[in-house]
Amino acid sequence: MKLLVLALALVLATPALPASAHPRPPRDLRQLAQQTGVKIGSAVDIAALRAESDYRKVLNREFSHVTAENAMKWESVEPERGVFTWADADTLVENARRNHQQVRGHTLVWHNQLPAWLTSGVADGSIDATELRKILRDHITTQVRRYKGKIRAWDVVNEVVEEDGTMRQTLWLTHLGPGYIADAFRWAHKADPHAKLYINDYNLEWNAPKIETTLALVKELRAQGVPIHGAGFQGHLGIQYDYPGDWANVMRRFADLGLEVAVTELDVRMVLPVTPEKLATQATYYSRALSDCLSVRACREFTVWGYTDRHSWVPGWFEGEGSACLLDENLAPKPAYRALLNVKRPR
Ligand code: XIL
Repeated sequence: MKLLVLALALVLATPALPASAHPRPPRDLRQLAQQTGVKIGSAVDIAALRAESDYRKVLNREFSHVTAENAMKWESVEPERGVFTWADADTLVENARRNHQQVRGHTLVWHNQLPAWLTSGVADGSIDATELRKILRDHITTQVRRYKGKIRAWDVVNEVVEEDGTMRQTLWLTHLGPGYIADAFRWAHKADPHAKLYINDYNLEWNAPKIETTLALVKELRAQGVPIHGAGFQGHLGIQYDYPGDWANVMRRFADLGLEVAVTELDVRMVLPVTPEKLATQATYYSRALSDCLSVRACREFTVWGYTDRHSWVPGWFEGEGSACLLDENLAPKPAYRALLNVKRPR
């Protein structure tokens, strides 16, 4: 009895910790996501998801959000006109359902990874503007409808603004005029009224002309009643460049327009060879990016563009660079992974 009283006295004497003060660091990224309230995601290589059980296991353990790295792009889902190939995208969505992961759809309107039938048809004039508009509407409607209720957020338009702040001269802008952007959002919204619809871009973390034009575009779309709900920051960073120190402020400016924001494709590359110093610097970039997101209430998602150096687009796209991910080729955590687990939501 005495012991019980003593124990009770001890419990009562211990000041209760507020729910936000987590004394124990999270065990993994899934737990970090729970504790911070920000969804933590990764881009997924579908071939690896199918073929590599260790890749699959770590993906499903660590991540509560996923994006198809390529499987939902136009050339993947409609390689020939009218011939839809959904198998890879379906695999991702089904794996996500079974593992309680939310999904970002990537991407509906882009100037890259378009099927050849489309680009050559536009180039040789066999597809005119009227038909092109119908093709775009059908593409958006078909794809968004297929995954209705299963996609939390769609990247509706990707990379539509140039570095100098002009609108990118894509086949969409050239042939359909600037109204294609509002149309795309409206068509997507009609096909899945609950999905959050995003504009997504790179260098939006720091590049002033791109930031200003994108903000102005969002403002105009909102004023016209166009259903746009989010701004995505790709976040393809490199440690040879300064960390974009104003990023949180930029996020806030989009949030002030009524949007949610997300880090959609984060990776932090380095010039090879890898050294312990570079890995330490990389860790600070990853943790600053998460801190920036956590410091903005409207930042809902923090997604990395692949989680392992075994499957990263960086070596193939940036000569002499690599090691951009949180885990190495053997799926061993790098300093950046451990740094993320120590990031706290600022009070
Ligand atoms: C990249 C993929 O990672 C590569 O596998 C593919 O060959 C090219 O595209 N911005 C985007 C992504 O929005 O879709 C790109 O993904 C990387 C840059």
